[in-house]
Amino acid sequence: MRSAMPQKCLSPVINATASRVKRAESLTQVIARPANLCDSARSTMKLNTLTVSLVAGVLLLAGCGKKEESASAGSGAANSANASAVATLEFTANDSMKFNLNRAEVKAGQEVKVILTNIGSMPKAAMGHNWVLLKKGADIQAFDKAAIGAAATDYVPASMQDQIIAHTKLLGPKQTDEITFKAPTEPGEYVFLCSFPAHYQAGMKGVFVVQ
Ligand code: CU
Repeated sequence: MRSAMPQKCLSPVINATASRVKRAESLTQVIARPANLCDSARSTMKLNTLTVSLVAGVLLLAGCGKKEESASAGSGAANSANASAVATLEFTANDSMKFNLNRAEVKAGQEVKVILTNIGSMPKAAMGHNWVLLKKGADIQAFDKAAIGAAATDYVPASMQDQIIAHTKLLGPKQTDEITFKAPTEPGEYVFLCSFPAHYQAGMKGVFVVQ
């Protein structure tokens, strides 16, 4: 009887323990589940990462394609970049013996386009204009003097050709001339002028800065 009692008493304990173990088991399962969830989440994430890298890869490839595209179009863009690298200088000359600009800046070796327009109305013989860029160290006074006697060559003296980098034609009223040349590779200040007699003395000149 004595032993039966504890047995009877114990059995609920055992049962309780068993149920606790069961609960513990289920708890473990519950605890394990999030871990499993984590694993599955991780694998999903891995998949996502894979997907992301795939997408990234595709985008990268697409990007590469675009790059190649822009590179091939780029030759056009590079050309236009080169085209925009051309320094276009628009000068006007008037009956008051004045250029609109007395200073211009370009880069060393840059492609330069000079457009000169005579916006005056006086006859070319009395008020012709040109735009002449002289080399560095040119004797400007000597050039100007020589130009006076060079009417036959539109006041661009043949004897001074070696002093000239570039020049436009001599223009009458409403005429335009356009020239293209390479800027000197040596940075510094160069002089441009109109070589029509007395125009340089009247101030038809400017500084052409090569940077
Ligand atoms: Cu002039």
